[in-house]
Amino acid sequence: MSDTLLNVKNLKLQFDTEAGIVQALDGVTFDIKKNEAVGIVGESGCGKTITSHAILRIYPFNAKITSGEILYKGHDLLDFSEKQMRKVRGANIALTFQDPMSSLNPVFTIADQLIDVIQLHKKCSPEEAREIAIEQMKKVGISDPETRIDEYPHQFSGGMRQRIILARAFALEPDLLIADEPTTALDVTIQAQVLEIIKNLREQYGMSLMLITHDLGVVAEITERVHVFYGGNVVESGLTKEVFQSPKHPYTKALISSIPSLAQDRTELDVIPGNVPQLINPPTGCRFNPRCAYKQDKCEIDKPELQIYNTRKVACHFTNEIENGTIS
Ligand SMILES: Nc1ncnc2c1ncn2[C@@H]1O[C@H](COP(=O)(O)OP(=O)(O)OP(=O)(O)O)[C@@H](O)[C@H]1O
Ligand SMILES: [Mg+2]
Repeated sequence: MSDTLLNVKNLKLQFDTEAGIVQALDGVTFDIKKNEAVGIVGESGCGKTITSHAILRIYPFNAKITSGEILYKGHDLLDFSEKQMRKVRGANIALTFQDPMSSLNPVFTIADQLIDVIQLHKKCSPEEAREIAIEQMKKVGISDPETRIDEYPHQFSGGMRQRIILARAFALEPDLLIADEPTTALDVTIQAQVLEIIKNLREQYGMSLMLITHDLGVVAEITERVHVFYGGNVVESGLTKEVFQSPKHPYTKALISSIPSLAQDRTELDVIPGNVPQLINPPTGCRFNPRCAYKQDKCEIDKPELQIYNTRKVACHFTNEIENGTIS
């Protein structure tokens, strides 16, 4: 039996906007194995959030998937009916949104929001669902859950709200939790606590994790593999340790060396020159070429596909030449 849980292949998604077509995902390819924690990293606007929304088919009306496959346990979610997708959301794949305020409805109590979701997916009475909800609140470290479950979101701090969102996600025991920037809006000390909860519960339930974050330190700490996004493509995939210790794609090299604690042999930070590409009129060939220190003519013409390079995958025409120093 395959140990792959999710296999996203050559996913293309575009937005129809007044200014023109935005090719937000330009052939995204990556996989997540059963019981594996995977990090998704890359600069703002590179398509991390929209990829997760595409997986659950919750993208806005002006978005359209034009090609690709999203295989979940071997079945293409793009072929699922809306009714089938409703079952997948939450029960099989849970998502915690990047914007924590949009995850909880301010006019309903925590009980309303947890019990409803639990009842929707598990055949149980409201009383049983309430018990499950309280149990989950305990697991994420909310004290006095028997009372607090009847309070409203605004009565909780940001960190506590994020715990409630996680409690709801874990209550359904999904196979995969997609956490989109779960700690970005939180204080540093609270960030560590929330990460600890994700780490512990994931291990306890044996679920896979797709962790979307700007924080490479967090990725280094809790993920086994990492997929690096750039301009609507995956440009490098591999074991987190290997990718961070010796990045191969020029974008990953620049990304890692811009983080002081990860770039061990550096005394000063590299800033990646240029900006994230305009996706309405993106660069031809490799989308990273205008910013790439190793750019060759071919890079403006041909788009590099992800290719196996030792134990990882890299989307660059010149990985070998850069590695052996023929291009520098
Ligand atoms: N509703 C929309 N209409 C048009 N373009 C959109 C829409 N939503 C997102 N995009 C574009 O799609 C691209 C990918 O956006 P996405 O939100 O997935 O980026 P991200 O990697 O999650 O960024 P961040 O790190 O800032 O969260 C961006 O260029 C963005 O401008
Ligand atoms: Mg995002």
